[in-house]
Formats: sequence, C-alpha cells, structure tokens
Amino acid sequence: MTRSAIHSRRHAVRGSILHFVDDPALHADDGIAAFEYHEDGVLVVEGGHVTKVGSAPELLGALGPGTPLEDLTGMLVLPGFIDAHIHFVQTDIIGSHGRRLLEWLERYTFPAERAFADSGHAQEVAEFFVRELLRNGTTTALVMGSVHRASVDAIFAAAQRRGMRLIAGKVMMDRNCPEDLRDTAESGYAESKALIEKWHGQGRLQYAITPRFAPTSTPEQLAAAGRLAAEHRDAFVHTHLSENEEEVEWARRLFPERRNYLDVYDHYGLLRPRSVLAHAIWLDDGEFRRIAQARAAVVHCPTCNLAMGSGLFDLRRATEAGVLTALGTDVGGGTSFSLLRVLDEAYKVAQLRREVLSPLRAFYLATLGAARALDLEDRIGSFRAGNEADFVILDPAATPLLARRTASAATLAEKLFLLMTLGDERVVARTYVGGQVVHER
Ligand code: GUN
Ligand code: ZN
Repeated sequence: MTRSAIHSRRHAVRGSILHFVDDPALHADDGIAAFEYHEDGVLVVEGGHVTKVGSAPELLGALGPGTPLEDLTGMLVLPGFIDAHIHFVQTDIIGSHGRRLLEWLERYTFPAERAFADSGHAQEVAEFFVRELLRNGTTTALVMGSVHRASVDAIFAAAQRRGMRLIAGKVMMDRNCPEDLRDTAESGYAESKALIEKWHGQGRLQYAITPRFAPTSTPEQLAAAGRLAAEHRDAFVHTHLSENEEEVEWARRLFPERRNYLDVYDHYGLLRPRSVLAHAIWLDDGEFRRIAQARAAVVHCPTCNLAMGSGLFDLRRATEAGVLTALGTDVGGGTSFSLLRVLDEAYKVAQLRREVLSPLRAFYLATLGAARALDLEDRIGSFRAGNEADFVILDPAATPLLARRTASAATLAEKLFLLMTLGDERVVARTYVGGQVVHER
C-alpha cells in the first residue's frame, strides 16, 4: 500500500504534542490556559483532518488495532507554521547586501521580478520555493507574486500539487517602477479578477488582491483594487504599510489629501477583514486603533526590518490596541525561510523596545495567532477536531548544541525558547500537509 493511501485512512502520531487554544498574552499564569500540551501525547488524523488529540494513556487504548501509529517519542508535534508575508519571486535575491528599502527595490528587487515574465522561470522558482517552505515547517503562506499573471499560476500550481493551503496574488503596480513591470488600473483589475475566478476557492487555494504598496499605484489603480475587494469580500487584500521612514514620507507626498499612510488604503476600500498589512512600524495610535476596528491584520517581519534598518515593530502596542498580528519571513528582504529564525529576531526586537516576548506567545503567533489574523482559525493553526491536519515534527536534539542545551531545560517554555534561539530548518524532522508527509529531513 502506498504511503498516501495509508495516510488518507485513520492514523496516529505519538510525541510531545503542543497547540494553542488562545493568545497567551490574554492569560495570566504564563498563559497556561492558552495552550494544550501532552508530553506523551497522540494526534489522530483521518481523511486529511484532525480527529483527536490527547494524552497517550488516554487515547492509545481507544485507537483500535488496525490504526497505524507512528512513534515519534522525544519529538515535539506542533501545527504547521504560517508565514503571513513572503515574496516567492524574491527567492533569488535573499541575502543581498547593504541597502535600505527604496534603494533595495530598485537595485535588486525589480530586476529579479522582471525575470518572471518567463513562465518557465516562474515554474522552476515556484517548485524550489514551495519545497523550501516545507523544509522549514511552513505549511501555509501568504505570498506576493510579481506583476505577471504567470507567476501566480506557477505558485498556485506548485502548492496544489502538494495539497497545501496557500494564498497568493499578482502584484498590481502602475507607477514609480520600471516601465516593463507596470500594469494599469484596468489591466491590474482584469488580470486579478481572472486569477480570482481561476484559483480562489480551488481546493485549499485562496486569492489575495495585491497592490504592492501605495507609492507604486496610482489613485485609479487603488480604486480598482478597492472595487475588486468589494466584489470579492472573501478574497484577501495584501500590501505593505509604513515599513520605513522614507517610504512613509513618500506616501504622504503622493497622497497629501489623506490623513496618513493607512488612510490611503482605507479611503480606497482596502481596509477590511482579511486585509493583511506587512510591517506597520511607523504608525500612530490612531492608525493602530483603526486597523483593529476594521479587523484587518498586520504582519511583523523582524528579519527584514533589521536587515534593512527599517525600525522596530511595536508588538505590545499592537496587542494592547487589539490588532490581529502574524509573523512573516518577508523573503527576500527577510533573511531566512525559517519562522524559527523569525521568532528569534522578534524576541530581540522586543528586547530593544524593553518588552519581553515569551516563547509560548512566540509559537502562538506562528500558528494559531497567524490563523486568526488570516481569518482561517476554523481550518488551520491548531489541532481542534475537524481542522486540516497540517503539522510539523520538531527535533529538540537536532544539533549537538541543541541536544546538549535541551538536556538541562526543565520546562516546556525553556525548550521552546531553545528551539527558537538555536533552531532553523535543521530541527524540522518532518512536515505533514493534510495528514501526509511532504518533507522528511
Ligand atoms: N515595499 C514595497 N515592496 C516591497 C518589497 O518587495 N519588500 C519589502 N520588504 N517591502 C516592500
Ligand atoms: Zn514584503
């Protein structure tokens, strides 16, 4: 019998199982009521969905003799990571040295994105990109393509082949970028609409209407994107907001009649549930309040923000304002595909702000927190019965140093903190999508 036939049937995994039921920041006592942890636990999966999670002594007897059980004792079993902001078309410029945002876009990004006019190139990069996500334990991502339709066809096709839940969209940009990377208000609208009709809701794929950021769209194009957002309320809106001070100043000059940068998106109908705004660093209290009120989400991308010297995201202010917050690698401005590296940098950014990010909250943000921010809580992000069975097996002894250091870690929080401090894709022993193994170290 093939592996996939086994895995569409009922099967179970035994290991240390952790998932979140709420935001640890909203609970006292180190957020103990916000998560469920079974040091010796069992996760039962059937037909691509979670059916049960519990302690091994409680569940093993009830599994039935015919149910295959994979013994992963010693490993940590977590819901798959969710990367809420990443550019697949920037895979080949990760680690480009020494520029701030606007210069980096001109010098590295636009030339790299130009290559996606070639659909063969798009397909090759999409395959590599999806494999890299899975190697890093990322089972869902919100992905920016290039301006070319074919880039989105390529990334959706690559995700579909593996049964992944993935959200993507064609970038819309019709000014302040190279001529050959521009669409228009009309063509951006028409091509995005055609892609929505082709892909949105096909299996686990969903579309994001993707104006790159305010400076590269005319008012007419933002209005067209807003029309699309009103016509397809269950599609996502995905853009960048207030990442860097020069960018904020530029947006103000381009839209002098708007109250602030956020108000540009708000004015054109782009701020609503399922609107996802990457960065959100240089915001005032009013902007945070308005994002919360609109039930839009922001994405903290610390590896990118530090690499580009953009600024320090204020997680405490976002949390206190009730803003839905997720984490993003933001490859290729970001410097790693690994959400574990992102957690490490998020912790350090918080330190520089004299705030503390607890390991439990960090892992919440990479799983259930992101699912909530993306309005996908009823499908992914936790092991709630009925959810899609996307999960990762993390090896707390993946490297000699991790093994040595973890041996003296007494609590779950200490173990998680070591995984985020010392870990990367080396700790991802396996990745499952829809209950099937899609990556094995
Ligand atoms: N702002 C507009 N485009 C981009 C991009 O590609 N990356 C980042 N980090 N910020 C942007
Ligand atoms: Zn980005």
